[in-house]
Amino acid sequence: MKGIILAGGLGTRLFPCTKVTNKHLLPVFNKPMIYYPLLTMVNAGLKDIMIVTGGNYAGDFLRILGNGREFGLKDISYTYQEGEGGIADALRLAENFAEGEKIFVMLGDNIVEDDISEDIKKFEKQKEGAGIFLKEVPDPERFGVAEIKNGKVLNIEEKPKKPKSNYAVCGLYLYDNRVFDIIRELKPSGRGELEITDVNNVYIRKNIMTYSMINGWWTDAGTFESLLKASNLVAGKEGFCF
Ligand code: G1P
Repeated sequence: MKGIILAGGLGTRLFPCTKVTNKHLLPVFNKPMIYYPLLTMVNAGLKDIMIVTGGNYAGDFLRILGNGREFGLKDISYTYQEGEGGIADALRLAENFAEGEKIFVMLGDNIVEDDISEDIKKFEKQKEGAGIFLKEVPDPERFGVAEIKNGKVLNIEEKPKKPKSNYAVCGLYLYDNRVFDIIRELKPSGRGELEITDVNNVYIRKNIMTYSMINGWWTDAGTFESLLKASNLVAGKEGFCF
């Protein structure tokens, strides 16, 4: 299985900090944000990892991560997203890299406490389809929200005004290789982007979507509030108290 970290975008919700670097390189407690998804992948045993970036500061990733030796990797692959086409548009740039294998995709601003090695192993054995990770949250309207019944995901709504549950869809996704065909068929959403939620809904309609619950904490870090929350969660995990 190959790992893909999506780390593009202009990070406008974190202006003015993102006027001088990419959002995913800002500090979360004592490390650049991108370290956390990268460590989640490395700890889950992934060795082939690609970072999809974009914007004006793509070169900063090389300066910080280099060839990945610090993480025990032989190398890291990089590619570049031109413009702002959305998460699914960024993912399609990884098609050649995936070489027909299953993929584990993580949004570069998502930080998760759990070790997800077992979920990765389980998905390796799953014949086909996709897998998502859910977490109960107090503010589901900020996320993709999953409607669950009898152990199945019925539907996902992107940032609904009236969420049908409290289960946020985390920015961690497992896909078989047909994901790239699905992306080719997508139409841009109201905000002009190819939405990852639309990709997931295609798998749900085909009845080949599974899900896991995140047990520990999970957060995104793309706004000043969530960036602060992420730093505090990481600091708490590492034994620092404020
Ligand atoms: C994206 C996805 C959303 C998901 C979230 C997780 O939203 O579109 O479905 O719940 O990531 O962080 P964004 O934060 O890019 O608006």
